[in-house]
Amino acid sequence: MPKTILITGGAGFIGSHVVRLFVTKYPEYKIVVLDKLTYAGNLENLRDIDKSPNYEFVKMDICDQDVFELFQKYKFDGVIHLAAESHVDRSITDPMAFVQTNVIGTCNLLNAAKESWKDAFEGKLFYHISTDEVYGSLEHEGFFVEETSYDPKSPYSASKASSDHFVRAYHNTYKMPVVITNCSNNYGPNQFPEKLIPLCIHNIKNNKPIPVYGKGENIRDWLYVVDHAHAIDVVFHKGKVGETYNIGGNNEWTNISLIHKLCEVMDVQLGRAAGDSAKLITFVKDRAGHDLRYAIDSSKLQKELGWEPSLQFEQGIVKTVEWYLTNEEWLNNVVSGNYTKYYDEMYGK
Ligand code: NAD
Ligand code: DAU
Repeated sequence: MPKTILITGGAGFIGSHVVRLFVTKYPEYKIVVLDKLTYAGNLENLRDIDKSPNYEFVKMDICDQDVFELFQKYKFDGVIHLAAESHVDRSITDPMAFVQTNVIGTCNLLNAAKESWKDAFEGKLFYHISTDEVYGSLEHEGFFVEETSYDPKSPYSASKASSDHFVRAYHNTYKMPVVITNCSNNYGPNQFPEKLIPLCIHNIKNNKPIPVYGKGENIRDWLYVVDHAHAIDVVFHKGKVGETYNIGGNNEWTNISLIHKLCEVMDVQLGRAAGDSAKLITFVKDRAGHDLRYAIDSSKLQKELGWEPSLQFEQGIVKTVEWYLTNEEWLNNVVSGNYTKYYDEMYGK
């Protein structure tokens, strides 16, 4: 069935991969991207598909009343909601920006969908993209499952947890058809270099110190972003209304071992002697309230909907490094302007 789908945050890292997948795989759908184009939103991420006849871009804040008119204009069948403030460190310095976009913005979008759909929800879907961080932090054993109680620890994860609760409340109260996924750390092309992997690639390339928080012993589970986009496609089309699905890469690394791996790959790609890039590793002050470990059990999604990650990390990390080295202009553009100010405030000059 042809559909008109609203994708929020489509100019960001994950959103742009989801938009590319939907625009190319479903030429019969109309894909409308709504994005405020904050520092993290970048239309360059969508340059290769922005002439497609089934794609339209609207610059808008999800907190604005204009969102209601947008729903009236396009009569969306579905919403894939990715727009968010997404960086934990920024949530520590400016929590209110996270409350505004992640909580108020999500509620505004839910209200606009509810009003537009007028409680006649047949064939509609509000798909909310969330994070594994809502479950809190694990010790060295165990995994997050869909039933794990929420225990968010940072202003970012608390704001995402709050938005998840509102989405479920609209399902419970108004019977709005919703689905939620909670995913682990993504990596790959087009990620803003405030996040660990692109930040390290950029610093290694420029022979700048690689800032490792604390002792580098925190553990994350890494998933290639295109695999996440495929999971979103599967859940959007086959997910059961009212359900939650965890998405993960089954690929845990301590930060320090991941950084060593990245240094090895960069040495090869840059033609440096083995061990050269690792000399840049610098231990810095730990993140406040730093979650020790995230690890996700995505067997529900694998068993019920048949999704699994396609790319091994060994290949994914090489592909990622190659992308940032090849797309020098993209990287240089995003680190110009406010990035330097942010970087100096975060890490010192
Ligand atoms: P990102 O920061 O790269 O992109 C966010 C996008 O949202 C940007 O294009 C930005 O301009 C837009 N945006 C921000 N505030 C907005 C507003 N008020 N109105 C409209 N647009 C706004 O984020 P990302 O890493 O691509 O994450 C996308 C979603 O996936 C987020 O909801 C995030 O919580 C979730 N998530 C991210 C990861 C990850 O590893 N990056 C993992 C799991 C879940
Ligand atoms: O788990 C999913 C989440 O993953 C998403 O919901 C978030 O949007 C996304 O930003 C990410 O959060 P993290 O805090 O895990 O990602 P980040 O890249 O900021 O950091 C990864 C790990 O590396 C974390 O333990 C902190 C550490 N780190 C990070 C930076 C930026 C460093 O040691 N040094 C750094 O300079």
